[in-house]
Amino acid sequence: MTSSLCFPHLFFLIFSLVILTAQSRTILRPNNLVLPLQKDSSTHLFVTNIHKRTPLLQLPFVVHLNGQFLWVSCKHDYLSSTYHAPFCHSTQCARAQTSYCHTCASAARSGCHNNTCGVMARNPITRQTAMGELAQDVLSIQSLKGSNPGPLVSIPQFLFACAPSKLLRKGLPKNVQGVAGLGHAPISLPTQLASHFGFPPKFALCLPSKSSTNGVMFFGDGPYYMHPNIDVSRSLSYTPLTISQEGHYYIPVTSIEINNKPVPIDTSLLTFSPHAGTGGTKLSTAKPFTVLEHSIYQSFTKFFTSQLSGIPQMKTPVAPFGVCYDTKKLSYSKIGPQVPNIDLVLQNQNVKWRISGTNSMVEVRPGVTCLAFVDGGFRPRASIVIGSHQLQDNLVQFDLAKSRLGFSSSLLSRRTSCGNFNFTTTSATP
Ligand SMILES: *[C@@H]1O[C@H](CO)[C@@H](O)[C@H](O)[C@H]1NC(C)=O
Ligand SMILES: *[C@@H]1O[C@H](CO)[C@@H](O)[C@H](O)[C@H]1NC(C)=O
Repeated sequence: MTSSLCFPHLFFLIFSLVILTAQSRTILRPNNLVLPLQKDSSTHLFVTNIHKRTPLLQLPFVVHLNGQFLWVSCKHDYLSSTYHAPFCHSTQCARAQTSYCHTCASAARSGCHNNTCGVMARNPITRQTAMGELAQDVLSIQSLKGSNPGPLVSIPQFLFACAPSKLLRKGLPKNVQGVAGLGHAPISLPTQLASHFGFPPKFALCLPSKSSTNGVMFFGDGPYYMHPNIDVSRSLSYTPLTISQEGHYYIPVTSIEINNKPVPIDTSLLTFSPHAGTGGTKLSTAKPFTVLEHSIYQSFTKFFTSQLSGIPQMKTPVAPFGVCYDTKKLSYSKIGPQVPNIDLVLQNQNVKWRISGTNSMVEVRPGVTCLAFVDGGFRPRASIVIGSHQLQDNLVQFDLAKSRLGFSSSLLSRRTSCGNFNFTTTSATP
Protein backbone atom coordinates (compact mmCIF):
# COMPACT_ATOMS: atom_id res chain seq x y z
CA MET A 1 0.00 0.00 0.00
CA THR A 2 2.69 2.55 1.08
CA SER A 3 5.01 1.58 -1.73
CA SER A 4 2.30 2.07 -4.34
CA LEU A 5 1.77 5.60 -2.96
CA CYS A 6 5.44 6.42 -2.81
CA PHE A 7 6.36 5.13 -6.19
CA PRO A 8 4.54 7.72 -8.32
CA HIS A 9 5.82 10.49 -6.05
CA LEU A 10 9.35 9.26 -6.26
CA PHE A 11 9.03 8.83 -9.98
CA PHE A 12 7.69 12.35 -10.35
CA LEU A 13 10.47 13.75 -8.15
CA ILE A 14 13.21 12.05 -10.18
CA PHE A 15 11.53 13.05 -13.41
CA SER A 16 11.35 16.72 -12.32
CA LEU A 17 14.97 16.64 -11.20
CA VAL A 18 16.09 15.28 -14.56
CA ILE A 19 14.13 17.97 -16.40
CA LEU A 20 15.43 20.71 -14.10
CA THR A 21 19.08 19.71 -14.43
CA ALA A 22 18.72 19.36 -18.18
CA GLN A 23 17.21 22.85 -18.36
CA SER A 24 19.70 24.54 -16.09
CA ARG A 25 22.46 22.74 -17.95
CA THR A 26 21.35 24.22 -21.26
CA ILE A 27 21.12 27.64 -19.64
CA LEU A 28 24.32 27.55 -17.59
CA ARG A 29 26.35 25.55 -20.06
CA PRO A 30 25.47 26.84 -23.50
CA ASN A 31 27.28 25.39 -26.53
CA ASN A 32 27.56 28.74 -28.21
CA LEU A 33 27.25 32.43 -27.50
CA VAL A 34 26.52 35.48 -29.58
CA LEU A 35 27.44 39.19 -29.60
CA PRO A 36 26.32 42.00 -31.94
CA LEU A 37 28.87 43.98 -33.96
CA GLN A 38 28.33 47.57 -35.08
CA LYS A 39 30.42 49.39 -37.63
CA ASP A 40 31.58 52.82 -36.52
CA SER A 41 31.57 54.79 -39.75
CA SER A 42 34.08 57.45 -38.72
CA THR A 43 36.84 55.10 -37.52
CA HIS A 44 35.91 51.94 -39.52
CA LEU A 45 36.24 50.00 -36.27
CA PHE A 46 33.73 47.47 -34.96
CA VAL A 47 32.02 47.84 -31.62
CA THR A 48 30.26 45.25 -29.47
CA ASN A 49 28.17 45.66 -26.32
CA ILE A 50 29.11 43.46 -23.38
CA HIS A 51 27.30 43.19 -20.05
CA LYS A 52 29.60 43.58 -17.07
CA ARG A 53 29.67 44.31 -13.33
CA THR A 54 27.08 44.14 -10.50
CA PRO A 55 24.53 45.59 -11.11
CA LEU A 56 24.88 44.62 -14.79
CA LEU A 57 25.74 47.42 -17.16
CA GLN A 58 25.99 47.22 -20.93
CA LEU A 59 29.28 48.71 -22.14
CA PRO A 60 30.57 49.28 -25.68
CA PHE A 61 33.98 47.80 -26.58
CA VAL A 62 36.04 47.96 -29.75
CA VAL A 63 36.69 44.45 -31.06
CA HIS A 64 40.39 43.80 -31.66
CA LEU A 65 41.13 40.50 -33.39
CA ASN A 66 44.78 40.44 -32.33
CA GLY A 67 44.30 41.82 -28.81
CA GLN A 68 45.48 39.72 -25.87
CA PHE A 69 42.74 40.47 -23.35
CA LEU A 70 39.80 42.72 -22.56
CA TRP A 71 40.65 46.07 -21.03
CA VAL A 72 38.30 48.70 -19.76
CA SER A 73 38.86 52.29 -18.75
CA CYS A 74 38.67 52.42 -14.94
CA LYS A 75 37.79 55.83 -13.75
CA HIS A 76 36.30 56.80 -10.41
CA ASP A 77 32.90 55.85 -11.81
CA TYR A 78 33.70 52.13 -12.02
CA LEU A 79 31.06 50.93 -9.59
CA SER A 80 30.60 47.24 -9.02
CA SER A 81 30.07 45.20 -5.88
CA THR A 82 31.79 42.20 -7.46
CA TYR A 83 35.08 43.86 -8.53
CA HIS A 84 38.12 42.03 -7.24
CA ALA A 85 41.82 42.53 -7.98
CA PRO A 86 43.87 39.35 -7.35
CA PHE A 87 47.14 39.67 -5.37
CA CYS A 88 50.37 39.49 -7.29
CA HIS A 89 51.84 35.98 -7.67
CA SER A 90 48.34 34.50 -7.35
CA THR A 91 47.10 31.76 -9.72
CA GLN A 92 45.03 34.36 -11.60
CA CYS A 93 48.17 36.40 -12.29
CA ALA A 94 49.97 33.25 -13.43
CA ARG A 95 47.07 32.52 -15.75
CA ALA A 96 47.36 36.01 -17.22
CA GLN A 97 51.12 35.44 -17.48
CA THR A 98 52.10 38.45 -15.43
CA SER A 99 54.50 38.47 -12.49
CA TYR A 100 54.66 42.25 -12.18
CA CYS A 101 53.49 43.65 -8.82
CA HIS A 102 51.37 46.76 -9.22
CA THR A 103 51.37 49.69 -6.80
CA CYS A 104 49.17 52.76 -6.80
CA ALA A 105 49.96 56.00 -5.01
CA SER A 106 46.46 57.51 -4.86
CA ALA A 107 43.47 56.45 -2.76
CA ALA A 108 42.23 52.90 -3.27
CA ARG A 109 39.52 52.42 -5.95
CA SER A 110 38.91 50.07 -8.90
CA GLY A 111 42.17 49.90 -10.84
CA CYS A 112 44.19 51.33 -7.95
CA HIS A 113 45.39 48.89 -5.29
CA ASN A 114 48.76 47.81 -3.94
CA ASN A 115 50.14 44.29 -4.41
CA THR A 116 47.91 43.40 -7.33
CA CYS A 117 49.36 42.42 -10.70
CA GLY A 118 50.00 44.77 -13.57
CA VAL A 119 49.23 44.14 -17.23
CA MET A 120 50.19 46.34 -20.15
CA ALA A 121 47.06 47.52 -21.97
CA ARG A 122 47.38 48.84 -25.50
CA ASN A 123 45.35 51.08 -27.78
CA PRO A 124 45.41 49.14 -31.10
CA ILE A 125 45.16 52.29 -33.22
CA THR A 126 47.60 54.71 -31.58
CA ARG A 127 49.70 51.85 -30.13
CA GLN A 128 49.90 53.82 -26.92
CA THR A 129 50.34 51.55 -23.88
CA ALA A 130 49.61 51.98 -20.18
CA MET A 131 49.89 49.81 -17.09
CA GLY A 132 46.58 48.48 -15.85
CA GLU A 133 45.52 46.34 -12.91
CA LEU A 134 44.49 42.72 -13.51
CA ALA A 135 40.93 42.42 -12.23
CA GLN A 136 37.98 40.06 -12.03
CA ASP A 137 34.31 40.85 -12.34
CA VAL A 138 31.05 39.45 -13.67
CA LEU A 139 30.69 39.26 -17.45
CA SER A 140 27.37 38.28 -19.03
CA ILE A 141 26.72 37.34 -22.60
CA GLN A 142 23.78 36.00 -24.62
CA SER A 143 23.63 32.30 -25.38
CA LEU A 144 22.59 31.13 -28.85
CA LYS A 145 19.35 29.18 -29.20
CA GLY A 146 18.88 27.90 -32.70
CA SER A 147 18.76 30.93 -34.94
CA ASN A 148 18.20 33.55 -32.20
CA PRO A 149 19.92 34.77 -29.04
CA GLY A 150 18.74 33.01 -25.86
CA PRO A 151 19.12 33.93 -22.17
CA LEU A 152 22.14 35.74 -20.72
CA VAL A 153 24.76 33.51 -19.14
CA SER A 154 27.49 34.73 -16.76
CA ILE A 155 31.11 34.21 -15.89
CA PRO A 156 31.36 35.42 -12.27
CA GLN A 157 35.13 35.97 -12.27
CA PHE A 158 36.06 37.06 -15.77
CA LEU A 159 39.69 38.29 -15.95
CA PHE A 160 40.39 41.65 -17.60
CA ALA A 161 42.57 44.72 -17.21
CA CYS A 162 41.43 47.89 -15.50
CA ALA A 163 43.38 50.52 -17.47
CA PRO A 164 43.86 54.30 -17.24
CA SER A 165 41.17 56.21 -19.17
CA LYS A 166 43.80 58.22 -21.10
CA LEU A 167 44.20 55.13 -23.34
CA LEU A 168 40.76 55.85 -24.82
CA ARG A 169 41.55 59.41 -25.83
CA LYS A 170 42.65 58.91 -29.42
CA GLY A 171 41.77 56.75 -32.41
CA LEU A 172 38.73 54.99 -30.95
CA PRO A 173 35.00 55.72 -31.32
CA LYS A 174 33.84 58.34 -28.78
CA ASN A 175 31.55 56.26 -26.59
CA VAL A 176 33.60 53.07 -26.17
CA GLN A 177 34.81 52.02 -22.73
CA GLY A 178 37.62 49.67 -23.74
CA VAL A 179 38.92 47.06 -26.13
CA ALA A 180 37.89 43.40 -26.32
CA GLY A 181 40.87 41.28 -27.42
CA LEU A 182 40.13 38.16 -29.47
CA GLY A 183 43.74 37.00 -29.88
CA HIS A 184 45.10 33.55 -29.17
CA ALA A 185 46.13 34.33 -25.61
CA PRO A 186 45.43 32.85 -22.13
CA ILE A 187 42.85 35.42 -20.98
CA SER A 188 41.47 36.72 -24.28
CA LEU A 189 37.66 36.83 -24.57
CA PRO A 190 37.31 33.66 -26.74
CA THR A 191 39.73 31.69 -24.54
CA GLN A 192 37.92 32.49 -21.29
CA LEU A 193 34.45 31.88 -22.77
CA ALA A 194 35.45 28.47 -24.18
CA SER A 195 37.21 27.33 -21.01
CA HIS A 196 34.47 28.53 -18.66
CA PHE A 197 31.57 26.99 -20.58
CA GLY A 198 33.51 23.98 -21.83
CA PHE A 199 32.89 24.36 -25.54
CA PRO A 200 35.56 24.07 -28.27
CA PRO A 201 37.86 27.11 -28.62
CA LYS A 202 36.31 28.47 -31.80
CA PHE A 203 34.81 31.81 -32.68
CA ALA A 204 33.54 33.44 -35.85
CA LEU A 205 33.33 37.04 -37.03
CA CYS A 206 30.79 38.36 -39.48
CA LEU A 207 31.48 42.09 -39.90
CA PRO A 208 28.61 44.21 -41.24
CA SER A 209 29.19 46.43 -44.28
CA LYS A 210 26.83 49.16 -43.07
CA SER A 211 26.61 51.02 -39.80
CA SER A 212 22.81 50.70 -39.94
CA THR A 213 22.72 46.92 -39.39
CA ASN A 214 24.23 44.69 -36.72
CA GLY A 215 26.84 42.14 -37.69
CA VAL A 216 27.48 39.19 -35.43
CA MET A 217 30.19 37.33 -33.57
CA PHE A 218 29.69 33.69 -32.56
CA PHE A 219 31.61 31.76 -29.89
CA GLY A 220 31.61 27.95 -30.04
CA ASP A 221 30.67 25.66 -32.91
CA GLY A 222 28.01 26.19 -35.58
CA PRO A 223 25.34 25.99 -36.86
CA TYR A 224 25.19 29.77 -37.32
CA TYR A 225 21.86 30.65 -38.94
CA MET A 226 21.33 33.81 -40.94
CA HIS A 227 18.12 34.98 -42.58
CA PRO A 228 16.63 33.27 -44.64
CA ASN A 229 17.53 30.21 -42.52
CA ILE A 230 20.97 29.61 -44.05
CA ASP A 231 23.56 27.85 -41.87
CA VAL A 232 26.60 29.90 -42.90
CA SER A 233 28.97 27.61 -40.97
CA ARG A 234 28.42 25.02 -43.72
CA SER A 235 29.78 27.17 -46.50
CA LEU A 236 33.34 27.41 -45.23
CA SER A 237 36.65 26.51 -46.90
CA TYR A 238 39.58 25.89 -44.57
CA THR A 239 43.19 26.95 -44.43
CA PRO A 240 45.85 26.42 -41.74
CA LEU A 241 46.01 29.13 -39.09
CA THR A 242 49.41 30.11 -37.70
CA ILE A 243 49.72 31.97 -34.43
CA SER A 244 52.60 34.38 -33.89
CA GLN A 245 54.37 34.74 -30.54
CA GLU A 246 52.12 37.70 -29.74
CA GLY A 247 49.00 35.60 -30.43
CA HIS A 248 48.22 37.21 -33.82
CA TYR A 249 46.47 35.26 -36.61
CA TYR A 250 48.29 34.42 -39.88
CA ILE A 251 47.18 32.46 -42.97
CA PRO A 252 49.38 30.94 -45.72
CA VAL A 253 48.72 33.10 -48.79
CA THR A 254 51.06 31.65 -51.46
CA SER A 255 50.11 33.88 -54.40
CA ILE A 256 47.59 36.48 -55.54
CA GLU A 257 45.57 36.09 -58.74
CA ILE A 258 43.58 38.69 -60.63
CA ASN A 259 41.21 37.37 -63.32
CA ASN A 260 42.72 33.91 -62.56
CA LYS A 261 46.20 35.10 -63.57
CA PRO A 262 49.05 35.25 -61.05
CA VAL A 263 50.33 38.69 -60.03
CA PRO A 264 54.15 38.67 -60.22
CA ILE A 265 55.39 39.15 -56.65
CA ASP A 266 58.44 38.17 -54.61
CA THR A 267 56.94 35.09 -52.93
CA SER A 268 59.61 35.07 -50.21
CA LEU A 269 57.71 38.02 -48.71
CA LEU A 270 54.69 35.77 -48.27
CA THR A 271 56.45 33.36 -45.92
CA PHE A 272 55.86 34.09 -42.28
CA SER A 273 58.98 33.60 -40.20
CA PRO A 274 57.84 32.88 -36.63
CA HIS A 275 61.15 33.70 -34.92
CA ALA A 276 61.62 37.12 -36.49
CA GLY A 277 57.84 37.67 -36.55
CA THR A 278 58.11 39.08 -40.08
CA GLY A 279 56.57 38.44 -43.49
CA GLY A 280 53.40 36.48 -44.17
CA THR A 281 49.71 37.42 -44.17
CA LYS A 282 47.89 38.50 -41.06
CA LEU A 283 44.22 39.28 -40.40
CA SER A 284 43.28 42.45 -38.54
CA THR A 285 40.19 44.38 -37.51
CA ALA A 286 42.36 47.40 -36.64
CA LYS A 287 43.14 48.12 -40.33
CA PRO A 288 40.17 49.37 -42.36
CA PHE A 289 41.68 48.32 -45.72
CA THR A 290 44.12 45.57 -46.69
CA VAL A 291 47.71 46.77 -46.46
CA LEU A 292 50.28 45.43 -48.95
CA GLU A 293 54.06 45.71 -48.68
CA HIS A 294 55.30 48.33 -51.19
CA SER A 295 56.58 46.01 -53.98
CA ILE A 296 53.46 43.80 -53.72
CA TYR A 297 51.26 46.92 -53.80
CA GLN A 298 53.00 48.27 -56.92
CA SER A 299 52.74 45.01 -58.83
CA PHE A 300 49.17 44.39 -57.63
CA THR A 301 47.79 47.79 -58.64
CA LYS A 302 49.59 47.69 -62.00
CA PHE A 303 48.15 44.25 -62.76
CA PHE A 304 44.64 45.20 -61.61
CA THR A 305 44.50 48.36 -63.72
CA SER A 306 45.80 46.50 -66.79
CA GLN A 307 42.98 43.96 -66.33
CA LEU A 308 40.48 46.83 -66.14
CA SER A 309 42.07 48.90 -68.89
CA GLY A 310 38.73 49.59 -70.58
CA ILE A 311 37.83 52.00 -67.78
CA PRO A 312 39.91 55.17 -67.36
CA GLN A 313 41.45 55.83 -63.94
CA MET A 314 40.94 59.18 -62.25
CA LYS A 315 44.02 61.37 -62.58
CA THR A 316 44.09 62.32 -58.93
CA PRO A 317 43.18 59.39 -56.67
CA VAL A 318 41.76 60.00 -53.20
CA ALA A 319 44.30 59.24 -50.45
CA PRO A 320 45.14 56.75 -49.01
CA PHE A 321 44.22 54.95 -52.26
CA GLY A 322 46.30 54.94 -55.41
CA VAL A 323 43.74 53.73 -57.95
CA CYS A 324 40.30 55.33 -58.31
CA TYR A 325 37.55 55.34 -60.92
CA ASP A 326 34.53 57.46 -61.73
CA THR A 327 31.72 55.50 -60.06
CA LYS A 328 29.41 56.08 -63.06
CA LYS A 329 31.87 54.41 -65.44
CA LEU A 330 31.77 51.09 -63.54
CA SER A 331 28.98 48.58 -64.04
CA TYR A 332 27.25 46.94 -61.09
CA SER A 333 25.73 43.62 -60.09
CA LYS A 334 24.12 42.46 -56.84
CA ILE A 335 27.58 41.82 -55.44
CA GLY A 336 28.94 45.27 -56.16
CA PRO A 337 31.04 46.82 -58.92
CA GLN A 338 31.91 44.44 -61.74
CA VAL A 339 35.69 44.42 -61.61
CA PRO A 340 38.27 41.63 -62.05
CA ASN A 341 38.08 39.05 -59.24
CA ILE A 342 40.98 38.96 -56.85
CA ASP A 343 41.91 35.56 -55.38
CA LEU A 344 44.20 34.94 -52.44
CA VAL A 345 45.62 31.49 -53.23
CA LEU A 346 46.15 29.61 -49.98
CA GLN A 347 47.83 26.25 -49.22
CA ASN A 348 47.20 24.96 -52.76
CA GLN A 349 45.54 25.97 -56.06
CA ASN A 350 42.19 24.51 -54.94
CA VAL A 351 41.85 26.73 -51.89
CA LYS A 352 41.24 30.37 -52.77
CA TRP A 353 39.73 33.28 -50.89
CA ARG A 354 37.83 35.20 -53.54
CA ILE A 355 37.56 38.97 -53.16
CA SER A 356 34.87 40.33 -55.47
CA GLY A 357 33.61 43.87 -56.16
CA THR A 358 31.96 44.76 -52.83
CA ASN A 359 35.12 43.80 -50.95
CA SER A 360 37.74 44.98 -53.43
CA MET A 361 36.29 48.43 -54.18
CA VAL A 362 35.09 51.26 -51.94
CA GLU A 363 33.14 54.39 -52.78
CA VAL A 364 35.22 56.94 -50.83
CA ARG A 365 32.95 59.81 -51.70
CA PRO A 366 30.00 60.21 -54.04
CA GLY A 367 31.18 59.53 -57.58
CA VAL A 368 34.63 58.18 -56.65
CA THR A 369 35.24 54.43 -56.27
CA CYS A 370 38.73 53.22 -55.37
CA LEU A 371 40.59 49.94 -55.22
CA ALA A 372 40.39 49.33 -51.46
CA PHE A 373 44.01 48.35 -50.84
CA VAL A 374 46.76 50.57 -49.42
CA ASP A 375 50.54 50.78 -49.66
CA GLY A 376 52.25 49.50 -46.50
CA GLY A 377 55.68 50.91 -47.44
CA PHE A 378 58.99 49.07 -47.21
CA ARG A 379 59.60 46.33 -44.64
CA PRO A 380 56.33 46.29 -42.71
CA ARG A 381 56.21 43.45 -40.16
CA ALA A 382 53.55 41.47 -42.04
CA SER A 383 53.73 41.67 -45.87
CA ILE A 384 49.93 41.55 -46.17
CA VAL A 385 47.42 42.62 -43.51
CA ILE A 386 43.87 41.68 -44.51
CA GLY A 387 41.75 44.54 -43.20
CA SER A 388 38.10 44.89 -42.27
CA HIS A 389 36.78 46.11 -45.64
CA GLN A 390 37.86 42.78 -47.13
CA LEU A 391 36.32 40.87 -44.19
CA GLN A 392 32.88 42.54 -44.37
CA ASP A 393 29.98 40.26 -45.28
CA ASN A 394 32.35 37.29 -45.09
CA LEU A 395 32.17 34.75 -42.27
CA VAL A 396 35.59 33.92 -40.84
CA GLN A 397 35.86 31.22 -38.21
CA PHE A 398 38.95 30.88 -36.01
CA ASP A 399 39.23 27.25 -34.95
CA LEU A 400 41.96 27.23 -32.32
CA ALA A 401 41.61 23.51 -31.52
CA LYS A 402 42.31 22.47 -35.10
CA SER A 403 44.51 25.49 -35.91
CA ARG A 404 42.57 26.37 -39.01
CA LEU A 405 40.64 29.31 -40.41
CA GLY A 406 37.27 28.74 -42.05
CA PHE A 407 36.28 31.42 -44.56
CA SER A 408 33.15 31.83 -46.66
CA SER A 409 34.12 34.51 -49.23
CA SER A 410 31.27 36.97 -49.83
CA LEU A 411 27.98 35.88 -48.25
CA LEU A 412 26.19 38.12 -50.79
CA SER A 413 26.77 35.44 -53.42
CA ARG A 414 24.95 33.05 -51.05
CA ARG A 415 21.99 35.43 -50.83
CA THR A 416 22.63 36.52 -47.26
CA SER A 417 24.87 39.00 -45.45
CA CYS A 418 26.41 39.65 -42.04
CA GLY A 419 23.49 41.98 -41.30
CA ASN A 420 21.04 39.08 -41.51
CA PHE A 421 21.33 37.55 -38.05
CA ASN A 422 18.00 37.68 -36.18
CA PHE A 423 18.73 39.43 -32.87
CA THR A 424 15.20 38.95 -31.49
CA THR A 425 15.76 37.19 -28.16
CA THR A 426 13.85 33.97 -27.57
CA SER A 427 12.78 32.82 -24.10
CA ALA A 428 14.61 30.33 -21.88
CA THR A 429 12.37 27.34 -22.55
CA PRO A 430 12.85 25.58 -25.86
C1 LIG B 1 50.15 51.86 -1.57
O1 LIG B 1 51.28 51.96 -0.72
C2 LIG B 1 51.80 53.29 -0.61
C3 LIG B 1 53.09 53.23 0.22
O2 LIG B 1 52.91 52.47 1.36
C4 LIG B 1 50.75 54.19 -0.01
O3 LIG B 1 51.23 55.53 0.09
C5 LIG B 1 49.51 54.17 -0.87
O4 LIG B 1 48.48 54.92 -0.31
C6 LIG B 1 49.03 52.74 -1.08
N1 LIG B 1 47.95 52.74 -2.07
C7 LIG B 1 46.76 52.17 -1.88
C8 LIG B 1 45.80 52.28 -3.01
O5 LIG B 1 46.44 51.61 -0.86
C1 LIG C 1 13.13 36.70 -35.85
O1 LIG C 1 12.88 35.81 -34.79
C2 LIG C 1 11.60 35.96 -34.19
C3 LIG C 1 11.54 35.02 -32.98
O2 LIG C 1 11.84 33.71 -33.32
C4 LIG C 1 10.52 35.66 -35.22
O3 LIG C 1 9.26 35.83 -34.65
C5 LIG C 1 10.71 36.61 -36.41
O4 LIG C 1 9.79 36.29 -37.41
C6 LIG C 1 12.12 36.49 -36.96
N1 LIG C 1 12.33 37.50 -37.99
C7 LIG C 1 12.72 37.20 -39.22
C8 LIG C 1 12.90 38.36 -40.14
O5 LIG C 1 12.91 36.04 -39.59
